[in-house]
Amino acid sequence: MNAEINLAEKLGQKLPPQLVDFLQLAGRKAADRREKAYIVGGVVRDLLLGLDNYDIDLTVEGDAVALARYLMGSASDRITIHKQFNTAKIRWHDWNIDFVTARSETYASPGALPEITPSTLEADLKRRDFTINAMAIGLSGKSYGMLYDPCNGKRDLADKKIRILHDASFIDDSTRIWRGLRYEQRFGFELEPHTLQLLQRDIPMLDAISGERICYEIDCIFKEQYPEKVFKRADRLGVLNRFHPGVKFDMHTEERFSQARERCCPDSPSTLLYWLLLTYDLDIETKEAMISRLRLPKLIAQPLRDCSAVKDRLSLLAAPEIKPGEIYHLLFGYSLQAVLANIIATETEESRAALCLYMEKLHGVKAIITGSDLLEMGVTQGPLLKKMLGAILDARLNGKASSREDEIAIVRKMQAEGSK
Ligand code: CTP
Repeated sequence: MNAEINLAEKLGQKLPPQLVDFLQLAGRKAADRREKAYIVGGVVRDLLLGLDNYDIDLTVEGDAVALARYLMGSASDRITIHKQFNTAKIRWHDWNIDFVTARSETYASPGALPEITPSTLEADLKRRDFTINAMAIGLSGKSYGMLYDPCNGKRDLADKKIRILHDASFIDDSTRIWRGLRYEQRFGFELEPHTLQLLQRDIPMLDAISGERICYEIDCIFKEQYPEKVFKRADRLGVLNRFHPGVKFDMHTEERFSQARERCCPDSPSTLLYWLLLTYDLDIETKEAMISRLRLPKLIAQPLRDCSAVKDRLSLLAAPEIKPGEIYHLLFGYSLQAVLANIIATETEESRAALCLYMEKLHGVKAIITGSDLLEMGVTQGPLLKKMLGAILDARLNGKASSREDEIAIVRKMQAEGSK
């Protein structure tokens, strides 16, 4: 494999010095063991693009776990080993560095996870998704800084092309369909014509992928700066419909994504908020079907249901002269992200005002007096105590009580009325 370009200087300029020290150490330790270590994948791509990326993946021609152990010596508490995958992660200052043994992969059936055998760097690079992700930089001995680019990734970076490495790539692993669209839109590149043709041919293969793996890819898209670009492209190509039938990406959803960013600024919207907005127009039956098909975790599934329930209450929330206490009871218990999704998506100003009041103020309102205080005041356990707590909370919500004394007065009044 030819390696003529040396990126040692670029590594020194782009990566923090402590990280460069670590990489040099890893290279030396690998050489001690007569092994070779390389930086691979996204970091190499981003280094050539001049982008910051400190998520280092190291590939080792040898034994990655043994090298990680040897490298850290007695500081073994900073290594996490995944026996199942034979990989190691080292915590170094603020960074995580992944160690993986160079491997080749064979796919027993489409959608299945690959069978893995140790191999050379070249075979490891050639089993990857796209040429721009199939480059490595040497770390050991004289190869320090050398670029390994057996699939012409550097040329495709310059030409702004996303290209797969062989015609069965999307069949072997059709999550690469989503990945391809993500890189294309992130970098403003284009799927080169043959890759695009194969991608379109292999869209049906997405049905063989497990819900968990699809969700992972969708979450990765939500972490992009502009996820809507990826979904628009996916919609046009018919990929989005394979995510779940009925999901569309129209101009309303696009506008909601951009509003979500405005509302969450300076933070990024949570991936959950994007899930809620992507599925906002689906009816609850379609959402339930999606929850089962993708085996969505409860942390996503419940807010998806909440979002529909809040949407069903929008007209009640828009009632003229609705009281804060009523708003509270209509919304209490639902996920705040589901409330926020409705704030973004509703077209009724009155509903939005009620939702905002709940989100900004009401949901955190609490009475000062507790159940035990009421017991001490002589109220007996039972429905009356519950009624009193409800009345105090309502008075707080509706601005009729603002101190402990106000709340005690309500109790006394109810006690007096009760004894009549
Ligand atoms: N990879 C692959 N096929 C996949 C997933 C990953 O070939 N389905 C390879 C690619 O070479 C990729 C590397 O594994 O570069 C690491 O994957 P990942 O961490 O998901 O991507 P990054 O390249 O780090 O890119 P990103 O910026 O999206 O995190």
